[in-house]
Order: sequence, then C-alpha cells, then structure tokens
Amino acid sequence: MSRLRSAMQRGKSVVLENTEVIKSSNTKKSKATVKEEEPSVLESSSYHFFNDPSEISAYRSQLLHWYDHNKRDLPWRTVAMTEPDVNIRTYAVWVSEIMLQQTQVATVIDYYNRWMKRWPTVEKLAAATLEEVNQMWAGLGYYSRGRRLHEGAKKVVSELDGQMPRTTEGLLKLLPGVGRYTAGAIGSIALGQVTGAVDGNVIRVLCRVRAIGAESTGPSVTEALWKIADTLVDLERPGDFNQAMMELGAKVCTPKSPLCSQCPIQTNCHAFRKVSIKQEKDSKTLQKLTSKLNTSVPDIENCLTAGSCNLCLSEDWDSQLGVQNYPRKPVKKPSRVEKTLTCIVQRQKGEETEYLLTQRPSKGLLAGMWELPSMILDAELSENKQRGLLCTMMQRFLETSLDRDSFQFVGEVVHIFSHIHQTYIVFSVCVSDCSEREQEQKTCWLTKSDLQGAAVSTGLKKIMKLYESSTKVNSRDIKRKLTPGKEKQSNKIKKFKDGAINGGPKQLRLSQFFSTSKTEAKIDTQNT
Ligand code: ADE
Repeated sequence: MSRLRSAMQRGKSVVLENTEVIKSSNTKKSKATVKEEEPSVLESSSYHFFNDPSEISAYRSQLLHWYDHNKRDLPWRTVAMTEPDVNIRTYAVWVSEIMLQQTQVATVIDYYNRWMKRWPTVEKLAAATLEEVNQMWAGLGYYSRGRRLHEGAKKVVSELDGQMPRTTEGLLKLLPGVGRYTAGAIGSIALGQVTGAVDGNVIRVLCRVRAIGAESTGPSVTEALWKIADTLVDLERPGDFNQAMMELGAKVCTPKSPLCSQCPIQTNCHAFRKVSIKQEKDSKTLQKLTSKLNTSVPDIENCLTAGSCNLCLSEDWDSQLGVQNYPRKPVKKPSRVEKTLTCIVQRQKGEETEYLLTQRPSKGLLAGMWELPSMILDAELSENKQRGLLCTMMQRFLETSLDRDSFQFVGEVVHIFSHIHQTYIVFSVCVSDCSEREQEQKTCWLTKSDLQGAAVSTGLKKIMKLYESSTKVNSRDIKRKLTPGKEKQSNKIKKFKDGAINGGPKQLRLSQFFSTSKTEAKIDTQNT
C-alpha cells in the first residue's frame, strides 16, 4: 500500500511538472461545431508522452532485449542485416514494406522470396512489364501496390541513375506508394536513419502504452504518436527498434487477448497500470483501507487534464475491455453492396478447354487484371432475366447468336473488397468455336494451364473453384440418376443440377490451378 501511495504521489508531481501544451489541429474545426461541446482549445497532456530519459532508455533496452530473443526469422530481415550493397538493401526492404502494407507476414514470405528471385535488383524490376508484375502479385490483393513498385523502379532507373534514395525524406518524396510510415520503415531498417515508423501495430502499442483513447486516426493523435515514436526510437538500432515495436504489436500486444504477462514493457504501460489499479481498487481490502484512512485514492492512473486533453478517451472506460480500451477506432463506413453478373464462357479447342477473359481498364479497381466477362447489376432481377441479360451481353460481345437456355446458373460467390461487399452471380456457357475479332476491350482465351500463371484476382479463383465443384456435383448427380433409389438430394446439389443437363461442361479438374491457397491475402481483399 505504501509503495502504491508513494508511486501515486510521484506520478502526480511528475505529471504536473511536465505538463506541456501541444496545440491540437482540432482547433481548425469551425466555431459552430466546437461551441459548447468541447473546450475551444484542446491540449495534449504530458501524461501521454515519454518525458523521463531513464524511462526512455529502459524502454529501449527492454524492448530490444526481448526482440533479440523472440524475433521471427524473416527473409527481408536477413537481407537488411547481411546485404552489403546499400542500393540492393534499400530496394529489398522497400519491396518487403510494400508487400507488408495490409498483408500478413505469413502471406508475404512466399511472394517476397519469388519476387526477389525474379527481380533481385531495382534495374531488373524496371525492365519487367506491368503484366509480369501483376502476374507475380496475383492473389496478394491491393494490386496498385505492385503497380507503384514497378513505376517507382522505372523512375529510380530513368531519373535517379539507378540509385535508390538514401534518406527517409528522399524515399517519401521520390517513390510512388511510399508514405510516412513506409519511408520511416525503409529509412530505419535499410539505411539506419533515426526515425520512428508508425503502422497499425505500432499505433496499438503506443495507444496502450500512453493510454491514448481519442480516435486513433484523428490528426492530433497521429501527430502525438509520431512524436512518441520519434522520441522512443533507439539511436543505435533504429531499424531493429521499429521492427521490435511491430513484432510486439503482432505477437504480444494483439488486438484481442493481449499477452500482457509476457510484455517486456509492461512497467511502462499506462493501460496495464490503469487495469491493475482498477482491479486493486475494486478489491475489498483496498476499499476498506482507503475508507479507514478517510482519503480518496489519488487518480494517478488517469490523465490529470482529462477534460481538456485531446488524447484522452472520448468515451467512458469499459472495464470488460481492460487494455483493449485502446486504441479507439472510428466507426467504419459500411461497405458498398454490389452484385455482378459473371459468365464463364468456355470453348473446346481440340483437346483443350479454353476460357474467355477480358482485361480490366488500366486504372481503378483491379487495374489491368484479367477477369471473366461481367456486368454490374443495378436492380434485383429474376434468374431468368439475369440469364437473358447475360445472353444479350455475350451475343454482342462475341458477335454470334447464342441460345439463352444454354446459360447455366452455377451459383453465387461473395468476395469482400476493402470497401465493397461484392456478390458474383455466376453463369456458364459453352460456345462453339468463335472467330477472333478485334474487340474494344482486350480479351483472350486461356487454357487452365495458361490461367495458372495469369494475372487474375482472388475473386476469379473463387468463382472457378465454385464452378469446378458444381461440375463435380453434376457428374455425381448424373451417376445418381442412373442408380435407382438415390433420388434424394441436398439443396446444394440441386442448385447445380441444371448444369449437367443440356450437354453441360464435362468434369474439369481445376483445383490445382484455382485453389485459393491458405496463404491468400490477409483480409482477402483486392483494392485499387
Ligand atoms: N510489418 C511491416 N514491416 C514489417 C517488418 N519489417 N517486419 C515485420 N512486420 C512488418
């Protein structure tokens, strides 16, 4: 108890002595919105920063010690440690950081290794085509990342004499797709620049460590987090320090069920201290003792200027959440709901089955990727009307006459993009050999083995997987029909049944080519 009390007193005096004012960019809000709801000038209390040099140095050494004993062996870390050529090292870390934006480490490893094998230098990447880059990126999602890497490599070769920028500012200014975080990460890891790097994992760690509960994406919180990261970063090992922060966020200070008991910086964590003190306060013994002493417990687990501090919790503390009260995220905008009619058009070329693909425009969602002929549905239509619509579209497209009844309903595939909830309504049709015509849109016919290496999205893979399973069901269904007494079928089988009738496609084994591997992009999203 006495230890607790003296710590409380110490904390109180430190906070009061060091209170500093950071003008919030929230003050830019119009007077009308600020009026009466908030104090007109919000300040950031020093409670949310690191002010004590001995605490900073303890934080650094505890975190780095933990990292040295717990870090994962990752290929880009090996390159950063062992590659003597600064240009190759910077290029290699750049590739890894772009791949790691929005994608989990486990997914990236294989893509990274294949990429570096094929394009080990910036010059090699610059000499590749966008089509090759898209092929290599297929399945990783957020395809604009690959495109920007490629653009950046071409720029380095054509405008910078093949030399990667040598400073964080240079990386930020000169490379497309490189923002503040990525520049900080590459600068510190590859170039030893002393700068923080604040990504999603680091935001979580810092918001907990300094009890920052205002919305984590707001400008004043963002600035505060960068200031803390820049203060904390180790001067001798900035790259390791930043990666240790990321590692801690990924492995210990996780969004759900964080492992606080294993945390090397537990003693520096305001959120952990808040939870511990609240638990102690709640315990009967403490309640009795404090009432006997007839004093209230000083609130050192809280920011003393909470009412006017722009970094404090914007809502009440939820005791069920514990440290997970931090960070506080803004309410997510609901995704756009979209339905797309999609057609698997196949033709027989000798022994081979070929599939019709069209290329998406060079800008926007899935730019330049190959997809099945599709159209966005803007109204609810019956299956029959959908069939009619697709038939008209494909007749125009292929400039041939088609029987609408030859379009078989295959099923529906839901695919979640970062901002779109997409449902593909899938039909299939077999066409007789169509002559190749000049199309406005780029098209091609690909065999299943061609498709294996093509730049196609995860959504397309899912559609083909469904199609494969439907054709399998169909052939099983036909067998059943030939076997008396086996009429009862599940709904799922019924859904695919029609496909078998009408001379539907023969059974295809596409699984090797279209199976969505376990290591698919983290949130299974593709983006622009
Ligand atoms: N996420 C982003 N950069 C990373 C890195 N270098 N190591 C692990 N995870 C990361």
